[in-house]
Amino acid sequence: MKEFILTIHILIASFWIGGMLFMVLVLSPYIKNLPNSTKLYKAVGKRYSIIGTVFGLPALFVTGILNMKNIGFPISELINPANIYTVVLQHKFFLFLVTSLLAVVHDFYLGERANKSEKLRKTTRFVGIANLLIGIAIIYLATKLRFGG
Ligand code: HEM
Repeated sequence: MKEFILTIHILIASFWIGGMLFMVLVLSPYIKNLPNSTKLYKAVGKRYSIIGTVFGLPALFVTGILNMKNIGFPISELINPANIYTVVLQHKFFLFLVTSLLAVVHDFYLGERANKSEKLRKTTRFVGIANLLIGIAIIYLATKLRFGG
């Protein structure tokens, strides 16, 4: 069962990070020169948001907590880490909270208003790229966990 939980966790993590990488490196360079680029980006962003933000992030939290239990660490270790492994996990969890907050602001506030002004469009893009960088930092911390913290 623990392998199944970690597999689901890694699959959702792949969709979350892979989706952001695809939008920044593949989709954006292509559609930014198209006449209705903001409208196109909004449509693709909305679909990614439903799967990634609305369902993906809560599922990463649940499977993350189950991963902890399967390795023998209670949730309380996220608050009071007792060893280097749970210290790294606490940092990962903190970045998870930051990336979740940024995703909600990006998807449900900025993204909705991005076509209203150049400043809002640039802020939306900045927050999107910041969230990708935080996601990559989370993956780095995940690999540190693999090697014991
Ligand atoms: C954006 C959010 C997240 C991403 C991208 C992510 C990514 C990953 C990845 C790629 C692994 C596999 C590492 C490996 O086996 O080498 C992993 C493992 C793990 N994750 Fe996450 N994760 C996220 C959120 C969370 C959260 C919120 C928690 C806890 C509440 C968590 C707890 C764990 C644990 C305990 C493992 C097992 C580590 C081990 O093998 O020792 N993750 N995560």
